[in-house]
Amino acid sequence: ANRKPLIAGNWKMNLNHLEAIGLVQKIAFALPAKYFDKVDVTVIPPFTDIRSVQTVVDGDKLLLTYGAQDLSAHDSGAYTGEISGAFLAKLGCTFVVVGHSERRTMHAETDDVVLAKTKAALKYELTPIVCVGEGLEVREAGDHVDYNIAQLKGSLAGLSADEISKVVIAYEPVWAIGTGRVASAADAQEVCAALRAALAELADAKVADSVRILYGGSVNAKNVGEIVGQTDVDGALVGGASLKSDEFATLSAIA
Ligand code: G3H
Repeated sequence: ANRKPLIAGNWKMNLNHLEAIGLVQKIAFALPAKYFDKVDVTVIPPFTDIRSVQTVVDGDKLLLTYGAQDLSAHDSGAYTGEISGAFLAKLGCTFVVVGHSERRTMHAETDDVVLAKTKAALKYELTPIVCVGEGLEVREAGDHVDYNIAQLKGSLAGLSADEISKVVIAYEPVWAIGTGRVASAADAQEVCAALRAALAELADAKVADSVRILYGGSVNAKNVGEIVGQTDVDGALVGGASLKSDEFATLSAIA
């Protein structure tokens, strides 16, 4: 497998546009160009800061990319408050997070909705970061592997092997998000390996071998090395630690 690690900083609903500009500049300053041969780094601001980030990235010809935290399943029309993939593509986004657990829980996004949004992202040549992850009850019952495979299959149902080759998967156990309770490297590896096996069933072995699978949940500069060192973990989706330029740059450099 020759998968380039990806470190994605999900800012969630934080920062204002001046802080966004400052954070991107500081991350870029701390990460010289040579790092980008080994790792892809992306920042995922709120919608309202994407334009500011674009200005810095384009103006300073930065090698880091940026994306969005969600998109509409629709192209355009009477969908008040929604943001379409077309808009994000025009803003130069590379990635879009789809089916984050915070959206699955707080906005009742089902696998069907996640699938529709994944298709919308692919339509506009955005790379969807499709999130799956079990809650604490599922983990404690020992059903986490089956649960994540079912979520993955539901979220990618009916996509062609070629389409699946264009997605990134993120495994984020809900009990590890924002809690400081990180999954062990072995826990992350177990689920990511199972997800890769499921990708081989949905597409084929070659595609499964090429798709990047990230781990997310309380990743920081201290634990990223061991987690991303696992065979089937190809990077991290980072929340809290992505808001601190030094820490995010350090963990990107380690990965
Ligand atoms: O999208 C990022 C994840 O939800 C992880 O967040 O690093 O703050 O636990 P966290």
